[in-house]
Amino acid sequence: MIKKLERNTACWCGSGRKYKSCHAAFDEKVIGYGLEGHMIPDREMIKTKAQIEGIRESGKINVAILDEVAEQIREGMTTEEINRIVHEKTIQLGGIPAPLNYDGYTKSVCTSVNSQVCHGIPSEQVILKSGDIINVDVSTIYQGYFSDSSRMFCIGQVSEEAAQLVRVAKECMEKGIEQVRPWGFLGDMAEAVHTHAYAHGYSVVRDIGGHGVGLEFHEDPFVSYVTKKGTEMLLVPGMVFTIEPMINQGTEEIYIDDSNGWTVYTEDGKLSAQWEVTIAVTEDGYEILTW
Ligand code: MF3
Ligand code: CO
Repeated sequence: MIKKLERNTACWCGSGRKYKSCHAAFDEKVIGYGLEGHMIPDREMIKTKAQIEGIRESGKINVAILDEVAEQIREGMTTEEINRIVHEKTIQLGGIPAPLNYDGYTKSVCTSVNSQVCHGIPSEQVILKSGDIINVDVSTIYQGYFSDSSRMFCIGQVSEEAAQLVRVAKECMEKGIEQVRPWGFLGDMAEAVHTHAYAHGYSVVRDIGGHGVGLEFHEDPFVSYVTKKGTEMLLVPGMVFTIEPMINQGTEEIYIDDSNGWTVYTEDGKLSAQWEVTIAVTEDGYEILTW
């Protein structure tokens, strides 16, 4: 009787429809995967249509900010100037830079140059020079919704080696994206990413990954790029997470700069490159929310 009542009450997804004619079959299917031993998402990981719409709007701003950086970035500029550009553009568009004051972080963006893997801190002391490769990682809050994406930029004339790493890192992300579909697994995406990286002799950082995103900056699940097809969390429509593999020229080993507690470097000092999108799982595939 209680069960029957539950089936007639409003669905947890916020559609306003009765549970039995909305997500009841969906829940049973998810639970079935759980019984087979797969990791399954909990309801907090499944966004409503309205929430995805909010993240999409946040993502549009996120992309506009990166476009502004793309327009202005040049040799001779400091990474602090990039911070200023990101901060001002974000405010101008009605957003809030998510990194600012996050866990004690004091800047509005991460700028990771050459052997910096991620979380490079903008500084007046870091002047971009010809040959540098840099990741600019922008994260935006707009009307309470979070989006996160990053791009690489090549400054002046970069070596063919560096240019190839940047190109292949982008392809790794794209090959991962192509694997995202409902009732697939995070590991399908990860395998596509690392297979491509390894084929070029590169390594993939294991100790840091992507994350769920949308209602907070960093949500579950942890998103690895070194796991196998058919493993890791089941993907279902409404999940939103980042694909942001860090691809290294040399060793996958990394260390954190203890002078600031943030910046991650390659252990061997070789180059690292990263591209990032925020992506949603849809009924028939995926939607990139930071395009
Ligand atoms: N944007 C980074 C990510 O992709 C997060 C950086 S946290 C910060 O997860 F505080 F350094 F911004
Ligand atoms: Co991220």
